[in-house]
Amino acid sequence: MNPFIIKGYLSPKYFCDREKETTRIQGAINNQRNLTLVSLRKMGKTGLIFNVFNELKLGNTHETLYLDIYHTENLQGFINQLGTAIFRMRKSFEAKLKEFLHNFRRIRPLVTVDPMTGNPSLSFTITSEEDARQTLEDLFAIIQYRSQKMPVVVAIDEFQQINNYPEKNTEALIRGLIQNMHNVCFIFSGSNRTVLAGMFTDAKRPFYQSTEMMFLDEIPFDEYKHFIKATFGKNNKDIQDKVVEKILQWTRSHTFYVQYLCNKLFEQGTRSIDETMFYEVSGDILENNNTFYYEYRNLLTTHQWQLLKAIAKEKYIENITSSSFIKKHNLTNPSTVRRGVQSLMEKEMICLIKYGYYVYDPYFSRWLEMQE
Ligand SMILES: Nc1ncnc2c1ncn2[C@@H]1O[C@H](COP(=O)(O)OP(=O)(O)O)[C@@H](O)[C@H]1O
Ligand SMILES: [Mg+2]
Repeated sequence: MNPFIIKGYLSPKYFCDREKETTRIQGAINNQRNLTLVSLRKMGKTGLIFNVFNELKLGNTHETLYLDIYHTENLQGFINQLGTAIFRMRKSFEAKLKEFLHNFRRIRPLVTVDPMTGNPSLSFTITSEEDARQTLEDLFAIIQYRSQKMPVVVAIDEFQQINNYPEKNTEALIRGLIQNMHNVCFIFSGSNRTVLAGMFTDAKRPFYQSTEMMFLDEIPFDEYKHFIKATFGKNNKDIQDKVVEKILQWTRSHTFYVQYLCNKLFEQGTRSIDETMFYEVSGDILENNNTFYYEYRNLLTTHQWQLLKAIAKEKYIENITSSSFIKKHNLTNPSTVRRGVQSLMEKEMICLIKYGYYVYDPYFSRWLEMQE
């Protein structure tokens, strides 16, 4: 199998570093602190959560519960995900059924089993605010009950999604339930820094200062370099140091993009991976994405497209409204640039890393760089 995985989490063997981060999250869990994990998309939050869960399972010290609410559109969606996640926790099927038949005051869940995977799913039909509130209470009561035997860690991935629900009281509702839980620790995770920071640092919002914030950066250069070399090496493939360095530079060490490029390089049938191969494979990746990239252009105004290209050509830009940048790239004036930046940020086409603006997707950035 290809050891450079590009989705999900397999085991520590395929997982690079994140030792400090894993220890830090374990520390939060062991000391009953809730934690909010934020990073760019595809930097490795979900992987890190599963790496922590893997450790917890090995130690047999905690029950773990994971839900990804990215695709949920409303409170009912959230409730269904939570119900399903609880239902999939360790316990015999019969015991679960009993637990789930007796614990709901208002609405009975419908249990369906996927015929292909055998995985059960739960769905509730919520028709009023009171239904939602009570069903959530019932679900949290099950977690609370379970936690009497063993502490529980609940990870809610893509948590910023609750801001898009039509039920505006969701935040307060969940916060109210969480704050009374004992022996249960929460990890909230998401990629929209502005939205999440707003939720947890705004004194007027329910989650204000209720969690510890943790920002996940890229994996340090040397750690990733070592991992890539060793992973090729274990599979009887040899890759030159300078090629590994090129990979990390070209992808800005953005985890998914590193993994994907290495996955493609690994696929080449040869034992030795050299610079020529790097240029070929990275070129192919961009070419395969051509259609998407041109499609993006249709979604933007001419000025936004010019601005995006200008940022890519600079690699990154600190002072985005400086006259030298504007002049060099024909970007009219600072206020147009400011509006363009805002719009590109909202579309997540660009991002602010430390002090500079970058094109979010490093492959796209490399492609833009080459455009006229
Ligand atoms: N430490 C790591 N080592 C190797 N691959 C990783 C690591 N962290 C994440 N990945 C891989 O990178 C990709 C993006 O990671 P993911 O955890 O899904 O990012 P996020 O949740 O921040 O969007 C996934 O394919 C995952 O398998
Ligand atoms: Mg994720």
